[in-house]
Amino acid sequence: MSENPNTEILSLTDVGKSYGNVHALRGVSLAVRQGEITCVLGDNGAGKSTLIKIIAGLHQHSEGTMVVNGEDVHFTSPRDSLGRGIATVYQDLALVPLMSIWRNFFLGQEVRKGFGPFRRLDVARMMEVTGQELAKMGISVPDLDRSVGALSGGQRQCIAIARAIYFGAKVLILDEPTAALGVKQSGVVLKYVAKARDAGLGVIFITHNPHHAYLVGNHFVILNRGRVSLDSARADITLDRLTNEMAGGAELEALSHELSSVSSSTGPTAAAAGSRTTEG
Ligand SMILES: Nc1ncnc2c1ncn2[C@@H]1O[C@H](COP(=O)(O)OP(=O)(O)OP(=O)(O)O)[C@@H](O)[C@H]1O
Ligand SMILES: [Mg+2]
Repeated sequence: MSENPNTEILSLTDVGKSYGNVHALRGVSLAVRQGEITCVLGDNGAGKSTLIKIIAGLHQHSEGTMVVNGEDVHFTSPRDSLGRGIATVYQDLALVPLMSIWRNFFLGQEVRKGFGPFRRLDVARMMEVTGQELAKMGISVPDLDRSVGALSGGQRQCIAIARAIYFGAKVLILDEPTAALGVKQSGVVLKYVAKARDAGLGVIFITHNPHHAYLVGNHFVILNRGRVSLDSARADITLDRLTNEMAGGAELEALSHELSSVSSSTGPTAAAAGSRTTEG
């Protein structure tokens, strides 16, 4: 594959997907470039998860084309997607809670040693690599034998990202990695999202939160009821406009009016809420 920065690794053209007679996606075009973060924003039901499920091989598109590294593809299983270097980190399913950190890191790609009946897991080696890789990302976990269930949501996301980078992913898809996190933890995860980009991956970052998107994004795509309502490079858009587009400008204005009439009877704080979206 080409090592030029900003090479298009993955592109969708006019992709559509129907579930029975529900058109979840229509005419969606999108490009993912190496060393860039493409943010996909949109409200509940906009089609974000459907979009990434198509790229991850869980669903198939019913219209349009998907090209990976210059080749037309139609995935029929997650294995097809992984085989093309596309790693997907799902919000809740990123890791197995009952297993240890190192075990999760190597899940499905375990290192073994010895021969024949003496062949067994090379635990020491896997622990060593896990420790090294996490340290490289600046993630400090005192005990790699700890079960993942004891970690915070943010730490789990970071470990899943580190694993994708170590196993050579070219494209990393993150489905709302900061949705369930507080402000501090979101910041930590965003830092690792940026690290994945700096490591040369093409990142697709799904989020509801325009503030989070704008902190790291190179490119922004807004989905609205299954269609692309905005596609903009960072240089061409401000955070204010992104937030406004995301909220659907007119709807936000109406909400602001509604809230300010409420605030005149209940107190001074509600009006301010109308002018900004809340943190995810
Ligand atoms: N398996 C399915 N069967 C039928 N309809 C579905 C299915 N999955 C999604 N949909 C519908 O497709 C549309 C897009 O859903 P999708 O889950 O992609 O939205 P989303 O942007 O990820 O929303 P959220 O922000 O709530 O996660 C919705 O109308 C949804 O009801
Ligand atoms: Mg979703």
